[in-house]
Amino acid sequence: MDTRIKRDLGEDYPRLEREYQRLSHITTELTPKDNNEAWSYAAHRCHAMDVFFEIGYEKYEYILAFAQEHKMTSIIDIGCAFGHQSEVFYGTDIEYMGIDDIECSFWNEDRYKYITQRYPFDINVENKKTSLAVSVLCLGWFSDKAGGYHKQLSQLHKDFDHALIFMNNHSGAINTAMKIWENVTALKMGGGIFYYLTKRS
Ligand SMILES: C[S@@+](CC[C@H](N)C(=O)[O-])C[C@H]1O[C@@H](n2cnc3c(N)ncnc32)[C@H](O)[C@@H]1O
Repeated sequence: MDTRIKRDLGEDYPRLEREYQRLSHITTELTPKDNNEAWSYAAHRCHAMDVFFEIGYEKYEYILAFAQEHKMTSIIDIGCAFGHQSEVFYGTDIEYMGIDDIECSFWNEDRYKYITQRYPFDINVENKKTSLAVSVLCLGWFSDKAGGYHKQLSQLHKDFDHALIFMNNHSGAINTAMKIWENVTALKMGGGIFYYLTKRS
């Protein structure tokens, strides 16, 4: 079912909806042959916004509620893609920062900081106690090539006191997380599971 029928997400996220309408107009007016770059840009963005409007928004609204409940002041989103989900935090008192290794213009980049780099690397947050690392369908999701989970989750442990990760629970990422983090709690959300990693029990 189209979630926009269930709940009018266009009303909740009007700026994103306007951008979606503008870009989808480009994809119907142009063909890849007319202007491949403009068509491809619009098509990729529309696809990412489709994902946000269909399922992504639920996970990020969950993150927002979690951050507010745990008195976090900022979230750092590792694997943010184009950053459309930053819209969930726009207008709240939670600061957002996105990290991804794709070269692109990010949504809300005039308002929020983005880093184009592949994780792991040192992230120096101002206050570890109130900064929440989040990662949805990124860390612990793809294959564990060259011990990638261990490197990512160890670096995360160095950089943060708290992390909320939407991970693949069949991949060994959880076992790796449990070896590194003092406390790992599974939190059921819709059809998936977030893992809350903390240094205290
Ligand atoms: C499936 S998308 C998820 C996007 C977004 N989190 C969401 O839920 O809609 C995964 C993103 O993670 C990024 N990514 C994967 N591995 C990464 C890494 N090691 N460091 C930074 N970004 C990474 C990819 O470029 C891609 O944009």
